[in-house]
Amino acid sequence: MNQQVIDREFRGQDILSAQQFSRQGLLELFSFAERMRKIARREVRTQVLGGYVMGSFFFKESTRTRLSSEAAFQRLGGSVITFIDPKFSSIVKGETFEDTIATVDSYCDIMTIRFEHAGQAALAAQIAEHPVVNGGDGSGEHPTQALLDSYTFKEAAPFDITREPFTVALVGDLREGRTVHSLVPMLTTLCDQVAFQFVAPDFLQMPLELINLARDRGCPVTLTDKLIDGIGPADAVYMVRPQLERMRNDEERDQWKGVADRLCLNRPMIEEHCKPNVLITHPLPRNKEIATDVDQMPNALYLKRQIENGVLIRMALDVFILGKQEKFV
Ligand code: NCD
Repeated sequence: MNQQVIDREFRGQDILSAQQFSRQGLLELFSFAERMRKIARREVRTQVLGGYVMGSFFFKESTRTRLSSEAAFQRLGGSVITFIDPKFSSIVKGETFEDTIATVDSYCDIMTIRFEHAGQAALAAQIAEHPVVNGGDGSGEHPTQALLDSYTFKEAAPFDITREPFTVALVGDLREGRTVHSLVPMLTTLCDQVAFQFVAPDFLQMPLELINLARDRGCPVTLTDKLIDGIGPADAVYMVRPQLERMRNDEERDQWKGVADRLCLNRPMIEEHCKPNVLITHPLPRNKEIATDVDQMPNALYLKRQIENGVLIRMALDVFILGKQEKFV
């Protein structure tokens, strides 16, 4: 695949779904992200996005996605506009989503948004003239998180996950967690031989369409509600929190309480049941699903590596979308 195709894949594009990328595009983005590290650490300075403005419009809670997107843009010399709090936007005065997006679109060159419902980032992209990056739409997708998670797996695994068999256990609320809804399709694109262990109580299992997508792409899928069975064969474990705010009723929340303790990972369990170099990952925020005794293990990647990679990946993505790669040769 030539550079022009990759350029068309990113330049001026909305980033709405993990399914929009090709393997070649992912690999180019990941190798570019590596080049961003020195800038992110201020060893090298750049003004490559000087004069550009990113709109950072988060209408739902966020720590990492919002702040890493903003840090990424500013590390490249760009500036950011944002709401102090969406409660101070005119949406509370009854302004429609459509009018709000049309307005903020004219203030910026690219926007990252998080909204409440699946599909709303795509709707914003239809309204906005500038590229829209989906920072998480309800229980829909979270494509930039999948980019940073896949990049982390690729750089931290002791073998080439794109070519060799790679087994990932995804554990927790797989029904509503948007990060896993993006990660599964992205890994099927990136890897020749990825296998999935979906570990969840039945009522929170992975949506059928994603199970089918993985199987249709030739990826073995195992469903289990037993943590130890799920993590045993895994090269990487990806834990997610219960999306309590999206559970349908108190009955579901009670059902979760009944099984939550059985889906918590701790250090003795990893040492006894996992492969020696297993990667332990989590998009964060965590509740109780990873005990703090795991944090200091060398293969626990969630508190440092994934977080740092979130900035690098978002920097690379901004450069690609705004078509500034050639400034780095
Ligand atoms: C997640 C999100 O908001 O989807 N976190 C993140 O963006 N790093 C995970 C979650 O809320 O469970």
